[in-house]
Amino acid sequence: MTKILDRTEASKVGALHEGKTIVFTNGCFDILHVGHVRYLAAARRLGDVLVVGLNSDDSVRQLKGPGRPLNPEEDRAEILAALEAVNHVVVFNEKRATNLVRELAPNIYAKGGDYTTDTLDPDEVAALREIGARIEILPLVRGKSTTGLLKSNSAAMKLRLGVLGSGKGSNFRAIMEAIKEGWVEAEVRIVISDVEDAGILKLAHEFDVPSRYVPPGRFRTKLESEIEHQIVQILRDRDVELVVLAGFMRVLKEVLLNAFPGRIINIHPSLLPKFRGLYAWTQALNAHEKVTGCTVHYVDAGVDTGEILGQRTVAILPDDTAERLHARIQTAEHLLLPSVIAEIARKRSNRSSTSDERDKRG
Ligand code: GRF
Repeated sequence: MTKILDRTEASKVGALHEGKTIVFTNGCFDILHVGHVRYLAAARRLGDVLVVGLNSDDSVRQLKGPGRPLNPEEDRAEILAALEAVNHVVVFNEKRATNLVRELAPNIYAKGGDYTTDTLDPDEVAALREIGARIEILPLVRGKSTTGLLKSNSAAMKLRLGVLGSGKGSNFRAIMEAIKEGWVEAEVRIVISDVEDAGILKLAHEFDVPSRYVPPGRFRTKLESEIEHQIVQILRDRDVELVVLAGFMRVLKEVLLNAFPGRIINIHPSLLPKFRGLYAWTQALNAHEKVTGCTVHYVDAGVDTGEILGQRTVAILPDDTAERLHARIQTAEHLLLPSVIAEIARKRSNRSSTSDERDKRG
């Protein structure tokens, strides 16, 4: 008899193993991890023969939602059957194993410690009573669970950001809100400011994001290279992948640029290449433009010169003031910056799943 049984074969398990103690357990075994292996070994030790009822793909979907199972039932059955502790695997299509329990009539029914005798399904308990099976709750293996694995995997999928800002931090807020809303797969690991009382530092505190004030040194528009080294260290300590300049009012130099090549972006309040540098909205207004906007670009050694990643336009109204125009540009920035970050995060996660595929084939 093969290890993987259909329902008819399963009902003959008792006869097949005459005089042996049959232990039954059931579950989804969505991604098999060491917690399962140890649990199944402990279940087998309760008797002589271990039969695992495996929820079919349909029943896993009903129990855990449309994103599951992660592995199809044939694969899950084959993996379980390969375990030394497992004698038989039976796929069942119902949400609960009650019918299968009746058909199999095991001596012992084993369950993981996420259940108690009170939380077991009452129909299942009634079926077990009918056939006179003993219920054994086995302790869970601490720290080993499918949910835990999925959680740490989804943390690994997030793009790790370091945000540098000198001002009130409204762009940082927009990034945090977009992350919360779930459309930017990223997390802000650290906020750094060169201004001790900058709003962005207070906001970081509000959002519970670690933050650091780094005294900027003696220059007005750039940082001393020693200070750039300090910032690089802070970013590396937090394993930052992408540095976001969100209103950082200093030009970056070699140390930072070389530490994060092609991995620093900036938001600028004009449609680059027009109006680089400070007060770009006033420059646009004074130049009698009809349209301006904002740009997210990679940072290179020039001032606002790097490759453009995205732009949004903002109309200049006949009676505009610099303040009103700047406010509307900022509203556009708050949409543009998170959407560019979302795009970078998407590309990165496509890249890593392609390389996962390559590893599997390799
Ligand atoms: C923005 O207007 C941005 O374009 C410029 O600095 C400002 C930052 O504002 N580089 P905030 O600190 O994000 O509110």
